[in-house]
Amino acid sequence: MTRPDPLVERTIAAFRHAFGEEPSVVAFAPGRVNLIGEHTDYNDGFALPCALDCGTVVALGPRADRRIVAHAIDLGAAPGEFAIDGTIAVLPTGHWQNHLRGVVAGLPCFGLPVTGANLVVSGDIPQGAGLSSSASLGVALGLGLARLAGEARPDHRTLARVAQWSEHHYVGCACGLMDQLASACGEQDHALLLDCSTLETRPIPFPPQATILIVDSGVQRGLVDSAYNERRAQCASAAAHYRVTALRDLDPARLVADRAGLDETTYRRARHVVSENARTLAAAAAMAGGNLVELGTAMRASHASLRDDFEVSVAPVDALVECLNQAIGPAGGARMTGGGFGGCVVAVFAPDRRGAIDDALAAFWQRQGTPPQRTISARPSGGAQLINLNLEQEQP
Ligand code: GLA
Repeated sequence: MTRPDPLVERTIAAFRHAFGEEPSVVAFAPGRVNLIGEHTDYNDGFALPCALDCGTVVALGPRADRRIVAHAIDLGAAPGEFAIDGTIAVLPTGHWQNHLRGVVAGLPCFGLPVTGANLVVSGDIPQGAGLSSSASLGVALGLGLARLAGEARPDHRTLARVAQWSEHHYVGCACGLMDQLASACGEQDHALLLDCSTLETRPIPFPPQATILIVDSGVQRGLVDSAYNERRAQCASAAAHYRVTALRDLDPARLVADRAGLDETTYRRARHVVSENARTLAAAAAMAGGNLVELGTAMRASHASLRDDFEVSVAPVDALVECLNQAIGPAGGARMTGGGFGGCVVAVFAPDRRGAIDDALAAFWQRQGTPPQRTISARPSGGAQLINLNLEQEQP
């Protein structure tokens, strides 16, 4: 990071206040928005997210006693403290320290070092919007802790896997790898085409003539974990029916030809994944060619498939997507983003549509009888990074 950043400054100031010394490592990892490729990651498929410029900062300093002492300054919670050797207990579901405990326990499982640390965490991702504050926290913690323990350049794909391991074993969410990979490996002005089978990430230039708008639906995401895990199980049973390792390996012809014996719901789940993988590749090609019409077509079809086949949208989100798509016109599109059941909608369009979109949104909220919800203008940003603490001294 090459600019004085209020979040970095705030986190360093809190570290000084808590521990009476300067931090020796500061790490940042961003949130993400997914442009297309939803519920494909845990089917070894494709996704097209980009990193945001909001995220989580962790400031760290060494301790000699192989303990972690941690302050989460945004939460106002009591500091957490635990030993890094032996079994690290999982705290009750929802406790913020599970993110930290999971990363500390996970780093050695992936060959990365961990050492005693004082640390302070702070972030600026809107909570509960589905912009991956949790993945950003996990990746920032992994990067900071591994660097503090002497790993000069922790591999970012490995950090993504540590953060996912922490979600699975400590946080209690059986998520795929998209959020963590986007946070760890994002690139400025590019979306990332993820291949969740090989973990390859291909940067796709985001068209300079396009803009991203994230609109919160105001619908609190409910039943997320149970519905998410149910969808995962349905995808696994569809893969078993078709005798493929993952639905990524199923092509559209076999989806139809070998359908006999599969119940209607599970068939529709599989159809979403197969069609979404194709749409994601088409969207990446359209984006690379600067073709907003084709990108928009893929985004609209993605939303319809998530609504009708995968059944993870909700009526108010459908209405918001419809409103945005009408205001955008043919060059671009809008769709739900993230796991579903509320949260945010993402829209891509040419900047000259912004006035029409703002007017349409104002009328929409009035019709709904709800106050206008937050909007975030986003540009694809860089992934996780260490902050250069000597920057001020280095500048002329
Ligand atoms: C959540 C999960 C991701 C992914 C999306 C749906 O964000 O954390 O791994 O499965 O849902 O695309």
